Amino acid sequence: MDKINIGTQGFTIPMPLAMLGTHYNGKPNYMTLGWVTRVNYKPALLGIGVNKGHASHTAILENGEFSVNFPTTEMVKVADYVGLVSAKRTDKSELFDRFYGTLKTAPLIKECPLSLECRLYDTVEMPTNTFFIGEIVGTWCEERFMTDGVPDISKMNPFVLTMPDKRYWKIGRCVGHAWNDGKALKQ
Ligand SMILES: Cc1cc2nc3c(=O)[nH]c(=O)nc-3n(C[C@H](O)[C@H](O)[C@H](O)COP(=O)(O)O)c2cc1C
Repeated sequence: MDKINIGTQGFTIPMPLAMLGTHYNGKPNYMTLGWVTRVNYKPALLGIGVNKGHASHTAILENGEFSVNFPTTEMVKVADYVGLVSAKRTDKSELFDRFYGTLKTAPLIKECPLSLECRLYDTVEMPTNTFFIGEIVGTWCEERFMTDGVPDISKMNPFVLTMPDKRYWKIGRCVGHAWNDGKALKQ
């Protein structure tokens, strides 16, 4: 089978679809976020890629705090909407019920089954984006979305993003167990 090189705009597939929470001009603000990944075990560090033109970028530099919230499939429209309009022109502060954990400028979205609050740990400057690395200071979930005390994706109903086709997808079924199934191939 011949492989085709389709160019440089490759993406990880899928990407978790999240909403970034910050305080912009003293008000909560949210933006759609596809570029998010854990980057260190201890301390628990999370990296996010944010365009320098976004209000959220200014907000993180100002306050040194942010939240990452994972919405459900029922929230597709609103999660997409916060990626279409900027707080520079449109007030998005009242779109969600919010609560706060330890940090005072990292709004956590009540409607989202899983939310992480992060304190800025480091920044990596790039031409169009900044890679903000945040230390996770709190992970917020509800009992009904957990099994044995940890978040259970089968109860949370999150969704993921694929690029460059710009589509959202539900999560499928569990197909294996990590750090375990490979043992079958060990000599
Ligand atoms: C599906 C989707 C994913 C996005 N992912 C990112 C991302 O990872 N990083 C980023 O900087 N912008 C991303 N954006 C764009 C911002 O969410 C968008 O420009 C938003 O309006 C910025 O809001 P703000 O100016 O209020 O911060 C994404 C938009 C969509 C629709």
